[in-house]
Amino acid sequence: MFKRFRRVRLNAKLRDLVTEIKLSHNDFIYPLFIKEGSGFKKEIDSMPGVFQMSIDEILKECETLKKLGLYSIILFGIPDVKDSVGSDALCEHGIIAKSIKAIKEAHPDMFVTSDLCFCEYTDHGHCGILDIENETVNNDATLKILGEQAVHHAKAGVDMIAPSGMMDGMITAIREALDSAGFINLPIMSYSTKFASAYYGPFRDVAESSPSFGDRRSYQMNPANRNEALNESIEDEKEGADILMVKPALAYLDIVRDIKNNSLLPLAVYNVSGEYAMLKIAGKNGLIDYDKVMMETLLGFKRAGADIIITYHAKEAAEILNGREI
Ligand code: PBG
Ligand code: ZN
Repeated sequence: MFKRFRRVRLNAKLRDLVTEIKLSHNDFIYPLFIKEGSGFKKEIDSMPGVFQMSIDEILKECETLKKLGLYSIILFGIPDVKDSVGSDALCEHGIIAKSIKAIKEAHPDMFVTSDLCFCEYTDHGHCGILDIENETVNNDATLKILGEQAVHHAKAGVDMIAPSGMMDGMITAIREALDSAGFINLPIMSYSTKFASAYYGPFRDVAESSPSFGDRRSYQMNPANRNEALNESIEDEKEGADILMVKPALAYLDIVRDIKNNSLLPLAVYNVSGEYAMLKIAGKNGLIDYDKVMMETLLGFKRAGADIIITYHAKEAAEILNGREI
């Protein structure tokens, strides 16, 4: 019988030759959560393997990452003091500005991206300044401080800015602020299509960023909307984003492919906390082969069209790519 497909599957070397997609260390960005203090390293219950760390611990972590072949990180700050406008994010002595400086000084070869948002810095936990009635986030007031926040990160020496607040016009505002401060070569990776997702649950424990009232549905997207998802990313491309993003990843691979087919910009996915936690817990309970399911999942993101994968799995995936048998 003519073996139309199996002929090229019978030999392992040939299977390798005809493999279409390969994961690499260069695909990954690893998220880090930074708290004030020193000698502080605390694992988060809902995300085994993910820690809040003080800056000195973060510097050691960068050493570990480099040994694994990982050179890209994205930073989230957890300030000691929060207020209504997120002042810690608007100051050169704030947690993120300090962290960027320290990391780039100790590890100039690390590529440091900063998450740009206000939910970790505001006492109400929303992603910007609230309007007078305190009902929702005021778009234009938030654009102004997003620009300021971006310039603080830039002055601290960050390599890329990643605005995650889903404000309308945020890329235009941030680009203008960066350009007028002289940072014309600093790239922006926009969280361009970000859904109001229940998959962010564990992250909000780690980043201490749950909204104190309401939810984020007036700025993040409705998971039901596919056309709007494409529109959001296309708009950010027009505004000058250098890299687009879909977040979360797993339940939104159709959106990843839509954007890949409609934009020539590099595309990232954010493999979020809830997605990570599901695999971790199932693996720990012996329900799945964690390593294999993880690699299959990461491969799926790339096959769907992602060029970059922001993932808490990056260290484990790197170990496997480095030859750890699974
Ligand atoms: C903040 C932000 C969130 C995540 C990344 N940046 C949470 C949110 O929007 O509430 C989620 C990441 C994750 O779940 O791993 N704007
Ligand atoms: Zn936010």
